[in-house]
Amino acid sequence: MANTIVIFGASGDLTSRKLIPALYRLFQKKRLPDGSQIVGVSRSDFESEQWRQSLRTSVEKFAGDCFDNETWNQFAENIFYHAGDIKEAGDFKALAKFLDSIEPEHNSGRLYYLSTMPQLYEEALKQLGAAGLNDDSDGFRRVIIEKPFGTDLKSAQALNASIHGVFREDQIYRIDHYLGKETVQNIFALRFANSIFEPIWNRNYVDHVQITVAEEVVVGRRAGYYDTAGILRDMFQNHLLQLMMITAMEPPARYDAALVRDEKVKVLHSIRHMTGGDFASDTVRGQYKGYLREEGVPKGSDTETFAVLKLFCDNWRWKDVPFYLRSGKGMSCRTTQIVIQFKNVPHILFGEKTREPLGNRLVMQVQPAEGIQLHFETKVPDSEMKTRTSTLDFSFSNTPGGKSLPDSYQRLLLDALTGDASLFARSDEVELAWGIIDPILAAWRSPAAPPLFQYETGFWGPPESSKWMYKQDREWFDVCPVLS
Ligand code: BG6
Repeated sequence: MANTIVIFGASGDLTSRKLIPALYRLFQKKRLPDGSQIVGVSRSDFESEQWRQSLRTSVEKFAGDCFDNETWNQFAENIFYHAGDIKEAGDFKALAKFLDSIEPEHNSGRLYYLSTMPQLYEEALKQLGAAGLNDDSDGFRRVIIEKPFGTDLKSAQALNASIHGVFREDQIYRIDHYLGKETVQNIFALRFANSIFEPIWNRNYVDHVQITVAEEVVVGRRAGYYDTAGILRDMFQNHLLQLMMITAMEPPARYDAALVRDEKVKVLHSIRHMTGGDFASDTVRGQYKGYLREEGVPKGSDTETFAVLKLFCDNWRWKDVPFYLRSGKGMSCRTTQIVIQFKNVPHILFGEKTREPLGNRLVMQVQPAEGIQLHFETKVPDSEMKTRTSTLDFSFSNTPGGKSLPDSYQRLLLDALTGDASLFARSDEVELAWGIIDPILAAWRSPAAPPLFQYETGFWGPPESSKWMYKQDREWFDVCPVLS
């Protein structure tokens, strides 16, 4: 079956930085289904050849060492551009005709990628339906929707309703690029392809879990968008909750989209919603110093660029085990890591009187030093019976194929083309996630909002975050990964 990938928002950043380089790499690795074609749609008025030229430049830049001229020329033969305005019904009719004209057989699948401004999603969906472009009697019709998926529960529900008016749920692929990361998928492997972790992956052995997505960068030229979103919408409703779901979920019966997503959704159902005093006691808000000077940030903005949430899953596996979710811009380094902190031994037989063993810790390094470390106590050689913490260290980069892991979009585009929705968010998942975040957003915007701590860039967020953790007799695992 021939496939056509239709990208709306063809002249945008995502298309040139991520989508086309990912499709190019899939083509180069001979993973892109035979006969696949790419059609870019946006308002800019240029010819296919001009678009190919500009894409070539970005692939040269973003596909790095993988670029080669001959492969590019073969790949580019199947790239087309079609100018069109999402607000014009006539343009969609013309697009339908164009697609019919380039697709060699009747039996052609189409994957629509909405990479436009989110405000245009509903219009684009409406127009796709009106032009009959959702009719899948002649081959699959699927749609990928980029984040953000709504700005709160209400808008997400409205967007879901619009999509469902045009596409069935099984045709919809809501992207969260974190799920495309190899190391995130590796959490499934670690948990469910090994027998040694699962028996202790619960409240009997785990003291708490830390999920950190730290970014060294500041908001920069995205400040205009960022100020309306803030870190809870930008990172927590999607990426951090996704990481939490995969860490906390029960094993599905099979690795199958419906079953995997059912288990993830059960985690969301179990997350205790914050109320009353929780907003002050279980959250930390921060804004980096200098944020107010970013271009596009309104005077006196109280948008958060750093946040911590302490969440609980009220279920048998995790009852009373805190999940600390933390993310920030302008932090010490770029690192995404999930730390499973195990409980201390019940009784200390030996070791220095002044130092308690730290407890075992499993660190899943999602990026950029992809790997896993297990921290455990060992005897200090030639000491009476002193112990110290040692580390078993697994690094993807030392394994075959692990040197340069594929970009998330490769995996996600391929899955959408082949009809595997396991790594995409379902409608109920997105709405439940907003249901957890919305009350926090509301509390943070209310007169009783907890303080917004200012912090210097280049550290681990506001010092209040560490103090808050100490008060709970716990400590952040603030370690920047060592890049080899
Ligand atoms: C995006 C956010 O979804 O994820 C950005 O909008 C953030 O603000 C980015 O920088 C982080 O993604 P990654 O893959 O670089 O960790």
